[in-house]
Amino acid sequence: MAVQINPSILSADFSRLAEEAKAVEGADWLHVDVMDNHFVPNLTLGVPIVESLSRATDIPLDCHLMIEDADRWAPQYVEAGARSVTFHAEACAAPVRTAREIRAKGARASMALKPATPIEPYEDLLPELDMLLIMTVEPGFGGQAFLDIMLPKIRRTRELISKHGLELWLQVDGGVSASTIERCAEAGADVFVAGSAVYGTDDPAAAVRMLRNQATE
Ligand code: DX5
Ligand code: ZN
Repeated sequence: MAVQINPSILSADFSRLAEEAKAVEGADWLHVDVMDNHFVPNLTLGVPIVESLSRATDIPLDCHLMIEDADRWAPQYVEAGARSVTFHAEACAAPVRTAREIRAKGARASMALKPATPIEPYEDLLPELDMLLIMTVEPGFGGQAFLDIMLPKIRRTRELISKHGLELWLQVDGGVSASTIERCAEAGADVFVAGSAVYGTDDPAAAVRMLRNQATE
């Protein structure tokens, strides 16, 4: 299971996004949090900025859509240049159709679960997905404390993935840092989003290397 580290630009300087992308050289993906002030109580960025950013960096974009009406918007983020698009189960009326549309347009399809959303009702959908995102904070803001109570869900999800013999990646997002990443990795996560733990430091590239080492130990 190869470990991947995805810095979240939510904690970066939005006036210098291209430079901030360069500052995390060595990262596997750049995590882009799209928020609409309806699905979550915060507002960030949309299709035009994703389009510009995808032209400005070679790091593939991992778009995390925290927006309502995800069925309608998800394919547009692939067209904007995202190589992976994550929609929330709670905001998606037709997850199978949406995942198939994302894949048909050439990106990886991923579904996210808020802390109170269980994985079990989605077991049969897993083959339609390339990644599952388990939120380890309530979505909406960077810098929140990691929710330890999500560890059993990570473990159960990893078991379901193995039971079905799937290649699906298991991403965690929220409060991932030097002090929590090992627990996430041990529970079965292999893709780690980190905002404040990367961009809140003086040397974001070094923070990425350190997180990778800790997740690999
Ligand atoms: C929160 C976002 C996260 C956020 C994580 O809703 O989905 O991607 O940037 O920030 P940290 O790593 O600071 O918790
Ligand atoms: Zn995110």
